[in-house]
Amino acid sequence: MMTSPGRELLDRLARENPLTDFAKNHWSGTFADYLDIVRANPRVTRNAHERIYDMILSHGTDEIVIHKEKITRYRFFDDPIGEGQDAVFGLEKTLSNLVQILESAARGYGTERRVLLLHGPVGSSKSTIVRLLKRGLEQYSRTDDGALYTFSWKDTLPDGSTSLVPCPMHEEPLRLVPIEVRGAFLNALNAESADPAYRINVLGDLDPFCRYHFQQRLAKYGGDWSRVLEDVVVRRLILSEADRIGIGTFQPKDEKNQDATELTGDINYRKIAEFGSESDPRAFNFDGEFNIANRGMIEFVEVLKLDVAFLYDLLGASQEHKIKPKKFAQTDIDEVIIGHTNEPEYKKLQNNEFMEALRDRTVKIDVPYVTRLTDEVKIYEKDYNGRRVKKFIAPHTLEMAAMWAVMSRLETPKNAGLSTLQKLKLYNGKTLPGFTEDNIKELQEEAQKEGMVGISPRYVQDKISNALVAFSDEPNVNPFMVLNELESGLKHHSLITSDDLKVHYRQLLSTVKEEYDEIVKNEVQRAIAADEEALSRLCANYIDNVKAYTQREKVRNKFTGQPEDPDERLMRSIEEKIDIPESRKDDFRREIMNYIGALSLDGKKFDYRTNERLQKALELKLFQDQKDTIKLTSLVSNVLDKETQEKIDIVKGRLIRYFGYDDASATDVLNYVASIFARGDVKQPRTG
Ligand SMILES: Nc1ncnc2c1ncn2[C@@H]1O[C@H](COP(=O)(O)OP(=O)(O)OP(=O)(O)O)[C@@H](O)[C@H]1O
Ligand SMILES: [Mg+2]
Repeated sequence: MMTSPGRELLDRLARENPLTDFAKNHWSGTFADYLDIVRANPRVTRNAHERIYDMILSHGTDEIVIHKEKITRYRFFDDPIGEGQDAVFGLEKTLSNLVQILESAARGYGTERRVLLLHGPVGSSKSTIVRLLKRGLEQYSRTDDGALYTFSWKDTLPDGSTSLVPCPMHEEPLRLVPIEVRGAFLNALNAESADPAYRINVLGDLDPFCRYHFQQRLAKYGGDWSRVLEDVVVRRLILSEADRIGIGTFQPKDEKNQDATELTGDINYRKIAEFGSESDPRAFNFDGEFNIANRGMIEFVEVLKLDVAFLYDLLGASQEHKIKPKKFAQTDIDEVIIGHTNEPEYKKLQNNEFMEALRDRTVKIDVPYVTRLTDEVKIYEKDYNGRRVKKFIAPHTLEMAAMWAVMSRLETPKNAGLSTLQKLKLYNGKTLPGFTEDNIKELQEEAQKEGMVGISPRYVQDKISNALVAFSDEPNVNPFMVLNELESGLKHHSLITSDDLKVHYRQLLSTVKEEYDEIVKNEVQRAIAADEEALSRLCANYIDNVKAYTQREKVRNKFTGQPEDPDERLMRSIEEKIDIPESRKDDFRREIMNYIGALSLDGKKFDYRTNERLQKALELKLFQDQKDTIKLTSLVSNVLDKETQEKIDIVKGRLIRYFGYDDASATDVLNYVASIFARGDVKQPRTG
């Protein structure tokens, strides 16, 4: 028999990629089977708050120290579904705050009765955080650790065949045990549990639909509830937003179109004819967002845009864990309720009555923008890391855009000696002379609103995309293209209405451009000044001499092995590069030795790259030692002799190897730096 190539491909792919968990995820059995599962692993009965908290923890944690403060970092937010696609960068404090609130909800300390309200400026990753939680829950429900169960009713049809009618709110099977006997039942179950540390505690009654089925059967079996339980099939429950199981989203539409049935379900008019009454639970669809989100979580997008009519549903759902479907009694729910709102919306409603009722029943979690440069860069790298973008993105392009965005969020330091750019660097982990970790904490404390204002990552993302499209005939995108886009977009930015602010943002753009000049000058210098190895050697040499000098010792000559006086000329030639006057040299040298000493107490090794000033000094020295061997300014003239061309190619090669350029962008940057030098702009790079 002939098989088509397509068929063969399909067979092979199916063989190689079986859905291994299919059987597990589709487990079904009797109620008694389920009791065996619960006895062996009582945690399958966890409520939604317990489950979401455990889900986050299941990914692991790290203890980190940021500016002397110990913070628990939750790996969940790094890459929850393991595809490197979605992540929240930075925001360790915000996330640890959020997880703490979930922890106290899981323990039943009260926050389980509140709406969790993520609040922050536009584009601060509120939706991203909620999305991660949803995806995380979906995935967790597929694992052994995160397993949960629900049930269907066996229904005998008039023709004698049976069908399964699922519980519309996919409730925990133990809710089938009548409230009157539940306590005793759970006590007995807990006594037999394989995990006594976890106490099974299933609260709440069945939804109206299941209640109806229950009552009917109870009558049929003369009140023997255990026989009713024989009429159900218990099955594994996999949460899935796409299937509207356990994960819901409510998004306000235009006000006239909002209807409470979207939250709590609606009458099924077709079925009224069949069942004769509007209040027959079989003629009602329990498919509102609150219904379907039972067991997992519900997200309220822009919760403050919600019509007041919904307020009571929301407040009841959070405070009482109950919703009120039309024509039915209050119905118990078990789900985490998370809303989000942006700062402008929140401000607008600050004095509103609606807000007051809500504020009282919410836990507000501030989600600021990232204020650490490296984290902001990661946001853009995630978007443009090669796969979706065919164009080459020149080094520092994303970094410069990120630098501007982060600076726009920082308050100008009160300390006149510190620029906003320097503050950014301090936050980013660079050391600056005269600034300690305590100073950085003080800086953060004096700027309480920091991160809650400024440019949003979304604006920057849009402009980077524009730049990618706008310069379609260019082989790459460089920082100038993106910075220009960022600048021209300011004119039409709908959220920045203040002219002063625009002026401020433009100033920051020129600061970024200056910084870019410094960075590329420095890179070209470093590319010329050989490699990191030579720098490390120079550094080691310098440190040896400084050490000998401060301790009034001799240095051993590498070649002769003879002790000699520290090489004052070498030390000064480095220090002069960063304007250390003769009178300050002792202080500077001591500072460095203290720094190295402190590091070694912590068991850490000194790396000159963490000391920006020293690094600059070393590079300038090395550059000076080598620059005459290459005539950079001759690049501008475009007529190069063979020897110069060869040297330039070496430099270009280093730019490509060490600094991530491609051929075209390396040529660009060499030309650009050559033009800076040709302008006679030979001012020493700023230090810091
Ligand atoms: N800390 C961060 N980590 C990762 N990505 C971030 C971060 N902050 C912002 N982003 C990115 O910025 C973009 C906007 O984020 P998101 O939509 O989650 O913001 P939001 O707070 O919900 O905004 P809005 O208030 O406008 O609804 C997304 O592409 C997101 O990935
Ligand atoms: Mg959002």
